Amino acid sequence: MSAAVTVSQVSKVFPGRRRPDVHALDDVSFDVGAGEIVALTGHSGCGKTTLLRIIMGLDTATSGQVSADGKVVTGCGNDRGIVFQHAELLPWRTARGNVEFGLEARGVPRASRRAVAEEYLALVGLSDAADRRPDELSGGMRQRVGMARALAIDPAILLMDEPFSALDAQTRESMQAELLRIHAATGKTIVFVTHDLDEAVLLADRVIAMRPSPGRVQSILDTGLDVSRPVAERRGSTEFMEQRHRLYQLIHGIEIEGALR
Ligand SMILES: Nc1ncnc2c1ncn2[C@@H]1O[C@H](COP(=O)(O)OP(=O)(O)OP(=O)(O)O)[C@@H](O)[C@H]1O
Ligand SMILES: [Mg+2]
Repeated sequence: MSAAVTVSQVSKVFPGRRRPDVHALDDVSFDVGAGEIVALTGHSGCGKTTLLRIIMGLDTATSGQVSADGKVVTGCGNDRGIVFQHAELLPWRTARGNVEFGLEARGVPRASRRAVAEEYLALVGLSDAADRRPDELSGGMRQRVGMARALAIDPAILLMDEPFSALDAQTRESMQAELLRIHAATGKTIVFVTHDLDEAVLLADRVIAMRPSPGRVQSILDTGLDVSRPVAERRGSTEFMEQRHRLYQLIHGIEIEGALR
């Protein structure tokens, strides 16, 4: 599998003003194959958001580099889209206007902008709320607008920072299934952050567990679940339970033979 994203020896230091520097990332390296789904997990503050922002080109590494589709990342590009941890919508625009925003920036004509925005709002179940502004939406609805905005530009690489964390259990499950459906239909490369180990094992081909101070890759788990099975079936499978247990042990530093790479 060719690499869609290559993270090479990335370190990030936030200089402290009259306080110690923060070593948010230290020598982080991994590849994400084209069409692969990778989950990033680890304690709060271990650098997951920082890493996603560097892959997106919104922030720069202090040392090391990131490549997307073989090209060194120096800024944002149409090949990558991001769903932020907190939706970060434009408050004066409606849900539809927010989804159209990314398309405007890419020069998509008005008429097709509207059609594409409607399509993706429907996908995330927000057709009826298209005319509401962010302050008239719930947290979960705002998060879904953020997802529609990222998906609407149809990026080959989709980066998502805790995309489902603000959703109720039912919406979360349907969005997870929707994500897998989109992935199966489009072959997008997906990197997402989650604190939920079930979600990581359920959705990802590989789970990268990070540890903090400084943020480093602790271990990488190949989930190896049968992706042809529907997500609901996968959730109840023995393989899922085993891999979930394995990930828990990895994160808590309990060594198991053959699991650490
Ligand atoms: N702009 C910034 N300036 C200074 N320090 C920062 C900045 N952004 C992040 N940090 C620090 O870098 C470290 C990593 O932060 P980051 O937001 O990447 O963590 P995270 O893994 O996403 O955490 P969470 O799970 O809570 O979202 C933290 O110690 C944080 O305080
Ligand atoms: Mg974060």
